[in-house]
Amino acid sequence: MQKPLLVTGSSGLIGSEVCQYFATQGYTIHGVDNNQRAVFFGPQGDTRWNQKRLADSIAGFTHHELDIRDRAAVLTLVRAVKPCAIVHAAAQPSHDRAAAIPFDDFDTNAVGTLNLLEAARQACPESPFVHMSTNKVYGDAPNSITLKEQPMRWDYSDPAYVNGIPETFTIDQSKHSLFGASKVAADVMVQEYGRYFSMPTCALRGGCLTGPNHSGVELHGFLSYLVKCNLEGREYRVFGYKGKQVRDNIHSLDVARFMAAFIAAPRAGEVYNLGGGKTNSCSILEAFEIAAKFSGKKQLYTYVEQNRAGDHICYYSNLSKMRSHYPSWDISISLEETIRQIVEAWKYRTIV
Ligand SMILES: NC(=O)c1ccc[n+]([C@@H]2O[C@H](COP(=O)([O-])OP(=O)(O)OC[C@H]3O[C@@H](n4cnc5c(N)ncnc54)[C@H](O)[C@@H]3O)[C@@H](O)[C@H]2O)c1
Repeated sequence: MQKPLLVTGSSGLIGSEVCQYFATQGYTIHGVDNNQRAVFFGPQGDTRWNQKRLADSIAGFTHHELDIRDRAAVLTLVRAVKPCAIVHAAAQPSHDRAAAIPFDDFDTNAVGTLNLLEAARQACPESPFVHMSTNKVYGDAPNSITLKEQPMRWDYSDPAYVNGIPETFTIDQSKHSLFGASKVAADVMVQEYGRYFSMPTCALRGGCLTGPNHSGVELHGFLSYLVKCNLEGREYRVFGYKGKQVRDNIHSLDVARFMAAFIAAPRAGEVYNLGGGKTNSCSILEAFEIAAKFSGKKQLYTYVEQNRAGDHICYYSNLSKMRSHYPSWDISISLEETIRQIVEAWKYRTIV
């Protein structure tokens, strides 16, 4: 029996990993991407190499050159494919970029998600719908948690957050960036299609999702871009917080594995904080050291006093809800191994 999976943003980091992973699980993959990342970020963000890689490596892969803002085309495609599951990973993904392109950002992130949800409701309401949301839906509210400063990083000193930020954390009355606001709209809409229409939807509020297939740029994809700077001997710009700001990093394969667990046993209108958790968290200064360990090169960087607007000082996800709903899932790739793979991937992409 054919198991068609529709993946939006298929040429991007998460979408491409999802395509590859589900292809090994007996699914027929339909990717949707129009290389909008190159429009958002210029040639450095071009994802055609990844699209070609998928076409070359996945048997029966179909690429659909489609803009998710095109409501009629989205409905026609979902009706034609009738996917048994949808993974929605297409987005304008940068909070800094959003301020310069507010309409493109909202039309892609919020309206594009609504186009897909409504198409799914009309064509395949029983099919699980997995949406990539972001921890930016919490805005800068996590910055109000009391912190302790350590030599290389910030950490929570409030014992309530010793295991990280839970899904019950407020998303209201804080500074989100326009990107965070468009993602809140999508996140709540995904929940609503679950609650109101009983559709099997979930919103995954990603921390730093990363891996060897990321086309990291300064405005998005911190670890990938950091490693690229390291290998090219270029200065990485640190924005504020003494370089001790903490991110939790999850390998895109572990993201795909969680999606598979959800699709196998879906629930309606769920929300999960999907990151590397405390164990896979690091500050920028700590990431410099790990990257240098694998590249053999010392990281060059400059320090800019002004932090990025709305940027988190310390953020790591509390993974307990994911683990309790899906006990077979856990993080399988360590932070060090993830950075090692990114180093190897950039070396390879520079050579070929
Ligand atoms: N990478 C991270 O650290 C991270 C963190 C939290 C959340 N997320 C979320 O995960 C999702 C995937 O992120 P990613 O890192 O893979 O991003 P990415 O930029 O690598 O991939 C997104 C893909 O979507 C495509 N796309 C954009 N607009 C489109 C449109 N209008 N129509 C069709 N395709 C379009 C782009 O060309 C790109 O290939 C996004 O929703 C993002 O907000 C990512």
